[in-house]
Amino acid sequence: MLKHPPSFLANYKALQKEFGFPLYVYDAEKIKEQFHKIRAAFQTANLSVHYACKANSNIQILKILKEQGAEVDIVSTNEGKLAQLAGFSPQEIHYTPNGVAITEYYEAISRGYNISVDNLDIMKQIAEYQPGYALCVRINPSVKAGGHDKISVGHKRSKFGLPVSQLEEVLRLHQSGAIQVKGLHIHTGSDIKNVEAIKKAAKVLLEKAAPFSAQLEFLDFGGGFKVAYQESEKDAEIGEIAQWLQKEIDIFDRTHQTKLKMVIEPGKFLVSEAGYFLTEVTQIKNVYGTRFVYLNAGFNHFIRPMYYDAYHHISNLSNPQGPTEKVDVVGFLCENDTFAKDRFIPKVHVGDILCFHNAGAYSYTMSSGYNLRERPAEVLIEGKNVKIIQKRQVFEDLINGQVF
Ligand code: LLP
Repeated sequence: MLKHPPSFLANYKALQKEFGFPLYVYDAEKIKEQFHKIRAAFQTANLSVHYACKANSNIQILKILKEQGAEVDIVSTNEGKLAQLAGFSPQEIHYTPNGVAITEYYEAISRGYNISVDNLDIMKQIAEYQPGYALCVRINPSVKAGGHDKISVGHKRSKFGLPVSQLEEVLRLHQSGAIQVKGLHIHTGSDIKNVEAIKKAAKVLLEKAAPFSAQLEFLDFGGGFKVAYQESEKDAEIGEIAQWLQKEIDIFDRTHQTKLKMVIEPGKFLVSEAGYFLTEVTQIKNVYGTRFVYLNAGFNHFIRPMYYDAYHHISNLSNPQGPTEKVDVVGFLCENDTFAKDRFIPKVHVGDILCFHNAGAYSYTMSSGYNLRERPAEVLIEGKNVKIIQKRQVFEDLINGQVF
């Protein structure tokens, strides 16, 4: 699919004047559209969509998804606090952390969140803290899937999830009443397009669920549905995945006399394409045959290209029809911060505005204060309304907490 800047960016100069660049811009309609696309694909009424809010944790984005009917997946109790401020009830908040201290689980339990555990030691401590506590267990399906090694988390060498060999002990805890397993969970990775890998991991979950079926309420298949970053790519086939999962759950229900709820936890699928990152060209330099285009941004603002070698489409808003030229798009940090190498984009001049696509997920939330540079502002476009939803940081924000 061709990636064109949306019509609301035709007036990018007004955005630049009002908010300054770099700037994150989100399209509320697109988020709603993606939510309903996923709901429609999973036609069953017995589906809960838990928005993985690490993808974009701005409260206004949370509110949009809450209004559409999403629940929320969190990985820190701070995300939980924000979700509550956005209007989610504790029952709608699902805590799926990894590696956190037991005290944070206790806090989540006392706040009334649902919790998912992937370590036997933690499970046993929870059983002592609150005997009979009903929780969800995340297993490691030993399936390798995902768009990059760093975001592939369901394989044998991954720190995530409980090895299936330990489920026997979980079953003993469950049968003794020490804990109650109300759900089973997998999350295999992010940016997954391989439907077969998704099915393979789901099969492990379905197979391991049988002994728990009497008290099982739901199966959580995680997130990870791919969206197209490049023009040549396609989104994950969610229709096919949904149909297959529904068929398998129906078989499970018939076999075990259950009425299981299906849970998915999309992050990227809901918000990635709704976001744009707008930056200004600060310098151009030719070095031994490479034409470097410098931006007033770096991996402090937008790290996916550097951390995951992720491809993000770039539009030149200032010269959309210009002849293309091959450039390296780089940042303004004191390190190699290459956004794109040997990329063909319409001829660039100093002062041009370049727009990165697919900047709605894992972009602002992964930003930092490196080189003591301010995080950008975020704005939300809702029809004709342009709403600031996160102010640009100022120097005082960056040094807040330093002791003078
Ligand atoms: N559920 C759990 C338990 C997760 O850990 C994650 C993501 C998700 C759901 C949502 O996955 P999604 O649908 O967004 O792929 N920063 C990386 C992605 C890391 C995702 C971490 N966990 C990136 O920018 O590609």
